[in-house]
Amino acid sequence: ALPADAGRIATLDWDALEQEVAGCQACGLCESRKQTVFGVGHRRAEWMIVGEAPGEQEDLQGEPFVGQAGKLLDNMLRALGLTRAEAPPAQQVFIANTLKCRPPRNRNPEPEELARCEPYLQRQIALVQPRIILAMGRFAVQSLLRSNEAIGKLRGRVHEYQGVPLIVTYHPAYLLRNLVDKARAWEDLCLAQQTWESHDRG
Ligand code: URA
Repeated sequence: ALPADAGRIATLDWDALEQEVAGCQACGLCESRKQTVFGVGHRRAEWMIVGEAPGEQEDLQGEPFVGQAGKLLDNMLRALGLTRAEAPPAQQVFIANTLKCRPPRNRNPEPEELARCEPYLQRQIALVQPRIILAMGRFAVQSLLRSNEAIGKLRGRVHEYQGVPLIVTYHPAYLLRNLVDKARAWEDLCLAQQTWESHDRG
């Protein structure tokens, strides 16, 4: 089920899109959220990072990845010379989630919630026109690649979303609990950087 106005969302500019998300009532998550979490970073960033959904801190602060998983993500990005700051000289990223609202008690997103929220992420990517997308975790991957395969099966090669190279990696919250996979996530970041170097913006 898509929101009735998916076609209209695909035409919105940044400010209109941000407003639309802020007032969204397309699924039941609007009842329990404190606020929507639109995304953060440079609006024409070369790197687009896509996570799952806001957690408790994100719901409180209105910014993606500001909790424990976010600290890990920031460290991973810093190692590549990337930051979420909007200004140069650092290379820029835009960070967004697949869902813009926190699921109660951080439960997994439901298919209908993902479907209703999807036009927002799709429009964000179309507006940013990134040179590379890093999809973290199974829900970002499900939404962008339409694949239910495990991260372990999809990582390690370059996929594509609407002509943009896309790299799959583990979600940072997962990495906090599964330290052995951190080395693999690091390989994924290296592959992303190599890919970024070799692909111009489309
Ligand atoms: N996990 C996510 O996927 N996104 C956030 O914003 C925070 C935690």
